[in-house]
Amino acid sequence: MDKKIYIETYGCQMNVVDSEVIFSIMRKEGYERTATMEDADIILANTCSVRDNAEQRIWGRLEVFRKQKESRPGVIVGIVGCMAERLKDNLTKTGKVDLVAGPDTYRTIPDMIKEISPGNPAINVLLSREETYADILPVRTDKNGVSAFISIMRGCNNVCSYCVVPYTRGAERSRDPETIIAEARDIFSKGYKEVTLLGQNVDSYLWKDGDRVVDFPALLDAVARIDPSLRVRFATNHPKDISDSLIETMAAHENICDHIHLPVQSGSDRMLEKMRRRYTREWYMERVRKIREVLPGCGITTDVIAGFCSETEEDHQATLSLFKEAAFDYAYMFCYSERPGTIAARNYPDDVPQEVKTRRLNEIIELQNQLSLQSNRGDVGKTFEVLVEGPSKRNPEELCGRTGSDKMCVFPGRGHKAGDYVLVKIGDCTSATLLGTIVE
Ligand code: SAH
Ligand code: SF4
Ligand code: F3S
Repeated sequence: MDKKIYIETYGCQMNVVDSEVIFSIMRKEGYERTATMEDADIILANTCSVRDNAEQRIWGRLEVFRKQKESRPGVIVGIVGCMAERLKDNLTKTGKVDLVAGPDTYRTIPDMIKEISPGNPAINVLLSREETYADILPVRTDKNGVSAFISIMRGCNNVCSYCVVPYTRGAERSRDPETIIAEARDIFSKGYKEVTLLGQNVDSYLWKDGDRVVDFPALLDAVARIDPSLRVRFATNHPKDISDSLIETMAAHENICDHIHLPVQSGSDRMLEKMRRRYTREWYMERVRKIREVLPGCGITTDVIAGFCSETEEDHQATLSLFKEAAFDYAYMFCYSERPGTIAARNYPDDVPQEVKTRRLNEIIELQNQLSLQSNRGDVGKTFEVLVEGPSKRNPEELCGRTGSDKMCVFPGRGHKAGDYVLVKIGDCTSATLLGTIVE
């Protein structure tokens, strides 16, 4: 009988791809993927360290995994990913895990498993300057077979002072473009209609091979040329690096979706400097204006942190005013969470009280809800090409899918299925969803 592996994935989309890479590595070893931990021989959590609450969730899950181990001795429980990298042997010392594997060590998991015996956990947290898993075709775990993610680079060379990612993911390295294009072609040939190219800072993607240099706009152009019916998305862009040539490449291809995720983090220059973001509010707004000028209707979304070290009421007001000025379509909004070992943790006191952080975050959320509603109202009466993802979650009688600008759209189907393109005329909206009908 085949052995089975179960993985719970936390954190960003890159972890989703990494879990698919682990499934692929383990399949070669005779492990089949299972969606239920009760029948798994190996239970892994692919973890995130970006905020403390992300890690707290994992500690909770470890208790659940331990019960599995108690009732079925021999089951292997492992922590992989960013939390494995951050906590290293502090995890094995708890006696709760048999395997600790950092993000660049997944090829060694099969050997590590062979080493494990009761009381002897296996650990590998070496970071690599080369590993991109370029030759490993991930086992797709998405549910609808429409949209897939491709990792184009790993690590991060920025040192934003609040951020743990450079420590958990190591130095930035780009993946061979030929392997990326081949993977996108393979996905398309299997019926997928959308690929998202992933990296912490896709603008700094760079591949050099002799005289040949491939930057991100060139890579994007090559992927977009695979087929006009393959939608191409990407994330995340860094405001300091997003180039005119990227914006122009987007404008040149119908199938490159008009959506840019451009995390701003704060609207205050004093905070941006302290965060080591290496751009100013003025620079950020100039980029937003440029995008809107060249790509009218382009969705712009962002990330923001409330209550970073020494943030004053004035800094917070600057964030609110930037949000209004930029008129984001959507935002991921967080309270600052101090991460041990980061520049901020070593140098600046985490001195904004939790209730102030929460209040400021709520003010940003409330404002963004209004901005999202405003943005959606502006789309009422317009017609968009929507890629059908499947039945709507709220109302299974209806279908849902996204516009190129990345807005969720719900509409009654006319015999369409996941993967079809339809033209939808928007009749109404909420702050989260466009509501429409299919037009011929
Ligand atoms: N590479 C991307 C984002 C990576 S992490 C970028 O540079 O924008 C995703 C988001 O988590 C960040 O954009 C930031 O808003 C948030 N984040 C990162 N570290 C955080 C921390 N210590 N506390 C709160 N939010 C944090
Ligand atoms: Fe973190 Fe900054 Fe790198 Fe993004 S660019 S992953 S926020 S260090
Ligand atoms: Fe989290 Fe690691 Fe991604 S810290 S956000 S899983 S790179």
